[in-house]
Amino acid sequence: MKREKYNFDCEVFESIDLLPKDIQHMIALAEDQLNYSYAPYSNFLVGAAAMLDNGEIHTGCNQENASYPLCICAERVALYSVGSKHKEFKIKALAITAHNPAKPNEDPCTPCGACRQVIQEFEHRQDGPITLYLTGDSGKILKIEGIKNILPLSFSMNNLL
Ligand code: THU
Repeated sequence: MKREKYNFDCEVFESIDLLPKDIQHMIALAEDQLNYSYAPYSNFLVGAAAMLDNGEIHTGCNQENASYPLCICAERVALYSVGSKHKEFKIKALAITAHNPAKPNEDPCTPCGACRQVIQEFEHRQDGPITLYLTGDSGKILKIEGIKNILPLSFSMNNLL
């Protein structure tokens, strides 16, 4: 038996002002998506914005349904928007934020397991990592360089070949 360690690497910013202007703009667009979130069941509002290397930004927010399993997360709405407009793309960064009107969140919103898997597929498609910026009510921002940090030992197309 040998023990292996998988590291989780993350930068923490206490304020958005410490980030470059284009990243601030992307995060602002993710925050604006909170106004469009359709979450009458959970009341948990999530916004996302994906920035391409050509400067385009695609946004998304969670969309819920009375048939609960049909709910779709903000990250996937934003990423599938990219996939539905581009055959080839390079997503540089993805911003995710959340707001629960009943209870301000102290920690930044982290993507659910299903969204981590989808982010991993998009990284595979573009053959490069996506930098994640996670934030929430506290204003604190986590910067994570690629999904491998929060989805170690992931299942990807490589497992099928
Ligand atoms: N949600 C997201 O949009 N992204 C996540 O990564 C976590 C969860 C949404 C789904 C559902 O509409 C609500 O948040 C509560 O789970």
